[in-house]
Amino acid sequence: MLNILIEKTKNPKKKPDENNLGFGQYFTDHMFLMDYSTEKGWHNPRIVPYSILSFEPSIMVFHYGQAVFEGLKAYRTKDNRILLFRPEKNMERLNLSSQRLCIPEIDVNVAVNAIKALVNIDRDWVPAKEGTSLYIRPFIIATDPYLGVKPSDTYKFIIILSPVGAYYPEGINPVKIYVETKYVRAVRGGVGYAKTPGNYSASLMAQLEAKKKGYTQVLWLDGIEKKYIEEVGTMNVFFKINNEIITPPLEGTILPGITRESVIELLKRWGIKVSERRISIEEVYECNKRGLLEEAFGTGTAAVISPIGELNWNENKIKINGGNSGELSKKLYETLTGIQYGKLPDEFGWTIEVK
Ligand code: COI
Repeated sequence: MLNILIEKTKNPKKKPDENNLGFGQYFTDHMFLMDYSTEKGWHNPRIVPYSILSFEPSIMVFHYGQAVFEGLKAYRTKDNRILLFRPEKNMERLNLSSQRLCIPEIDVNVAVNAIKALVNIDRDWVPAKEGTSLYIRPFIIATDPYLGVKPSDTYKFIIILSPVGAYYPEGINPVKIYVETKYVRAVRGGVGYAKTPGNYSASLMAQLEAKKKGYTQVLWLDGIEKKYIEEVGTMNVFFKINNEIITPPLEGTILPGITRESVIELLKRWGIKVSERRISIEEVYECNKRGLLEEAFGTGTAAVISPIGELNWNENKIKINGGNSGELSKKLYETLTGIQYGKLPDEFGWTIEVK
């Protein structure tokens, strides 16, 4: 059992207006911390008031980016229970990312218990308004004050919480996506599958350029031929073509999304044909020409299910489903959020109550 030391805040903060949460701009009263050293392993788990952390400017994460993170949510049900959605999956993925970044793994039970304990202390911060939730951001940083390039000997595991609304300003309305042909996100053998900050900072330039052209996000193509579709950086992608649902396979370059996995399980349960296979951007455009491209949507914890209404590939623009949300995207959104918010029976055993 994890013995977490708890120091409660003496100055609880004023909670933000639930109508204007945005994404990731407010933080709760407490945070979780745990330290790692070679001698002691992971030790000293504690929940303390959310506050500024101070570090030497020489710590390794600042210089070489040895860090990993996760994103999951806590949901408030109508009867005021607080639910987590498959948190063990996120902690397994944290370990997968850690392996790649040479960071010591954390026992999944220990990490999930840390999340539950922290969310429980800040449970009043889980917003109630439709479409809102408490975003949970666990992360690990390398803390050796040292400038040589090697894995750090010390780390901090930190969890912070943020009440959030929709990630995209579009909400559940379709997003416009720019197909990126200049920059690439990942190559096989790289760190594309790991949730590590470098993947996100490397995507900023493309995102900025796409924004200038009026697009919400970019769709990444494979790093070698710039031919096969990969992901959207904040979401995995799915295409509905001629009644088949197609999503790129996990070959080491895209994030193994937990929403992605859940959507695949739901589709299979519904008896819908779903294929994890390579799909080229040419195929998508060709199918659209032949009237076979029915829907496209992204999946992610932050983005939930986000219909894609428009693609722009080399200034060749296509509208998908007339730029509207498709039936399947809507059904997936309703089902997934229905389970997450405890409105629908959880036949898969995906949710865990925090109490
Ligand atoms: C998430 O979906 O949780 C993410 O981490 C995406 C983004 C906010 C970085």
